[in-house]
Amino acid sequence: MTSIPRDQWYVAAYGREIGPALFSRTVCGESILFWRTASGRVTAVADRCVHRRFPLSELPTRLVDDQVVCGYHGFTYGADGRCVAVPGQTRVPRTARLSTYPVVEQDSFVWVWIGDPVLADGTTIPRAPWLTAPDYTTVSGMEPLAARFGLLVDNLLDLSHETYLHGGYIGTPEVASTPITTEVDEAAGIVYVSRRMADAACPPFYSRSTGLTGRITRWQDIEYAPPCLYKLHSRIAPVGCLPDPDGTDLDAFHVEVVYAITPETEHTTHDFWAVARDFALDDEEVSAFLAESNRTVVLQDVAALDVLERVVASEEDGYQELSINIDTGGLAARRILARLAGGRVHQVTS
Ligand code: FES
Ligand SMILES: [Fe+2]
Repeated sequence: MTSIPRDQWYVAAYGREIGPALFSRTVCGESILFWRTASGRVTAVADRCVHRRFPLSELPTRLVDDQVVCGYHGFTYGADGRCVAVPGQTRVPRTARLSTYPVVEQDSFVWVWIGDPVLADGTTIPRAPWLTAPDYTTVSGMEPLAARFGLLVDNLLDLSHETYLHGGYIGTPEVASTPITTEVDEAAGIVYVSRRMADAACPPFYSRSTGLTGRITRWQDIEYAPPCLYKLHSRIAPVGCLPDPDGTDLDAFHVEVVYAITPETEHTTHDFWAVARDFALDDEEVSAFLAESNRTVVLQDVAALDVLERVVASEEDGYQELSINIDTGGLAARRILARLAGGRVHQVTS
């Protein structure tokens, strides 16, 4: 049985990746063909000709006036997936139609619904408004991960690994040594994990981008909306500097780190990452530094998780992990993901 929840929204791409040309990406094992139509809308259809299965993203398939002409024998499809022309006959079989996917473009992402289209409700897609907000500047990217998506969920829900895997970038001793608090909103299906460091070293990621030189108060507030959207609300300020009682927080630096965790297949994942900041908005050096640093950090995770996937894939059933307090958020996420996938999750000893 698959561990990938269906009847869910997943990020398939950044909006900037999709223009008036054919673009293909596999999401949850389904190869999907995208393009931006003349009206500016992103369309998503199955990337497989109904005739002899030729992938429509392969040359010499062409896009002509918002119609896809299959590069094998010329079956021609409109943006709604309907076949409008076939070779050698005027009658087009009624069943000649590509399946279509509901699409919503929002917060710089292109979301697709995987599952029964009747159940798709775009209003339920979790938001990440900073990524397009005028009072934030965002850098972003996507790295392919040769590991199952659950390993990335585990990784992001337990940031104590920053101290070890990302030392010298975003990790300092205080991340691992500060206890977390975890809350689960079962009704909404959201996991919150908080780590608030009152007096911590400032890692290069933040010292070089904010200019802070001394010790800092560092908050990491995670909000994970399974299966796809993960947000890390990060607050950095000089030691002792707290928000005003009414919530205004002018002396702190805020960074919204957003990940979209999209299964490509059972064993591979699209790791979308974005870093939005509310300071140095026009400073291109800061943008370049944060983009390069975050990509390096993501690639450190990718290297570790690619190794872990090979270990997990080769082990026998029934291996018992050992979990401790830092894993509370990850275990809650696994429970919710298993529920969404309609299955059960391994019980883990603690
Ligand atoms: S496979 Fe596409 S037209 Fe034949
Ligand atoms: Fe990491």
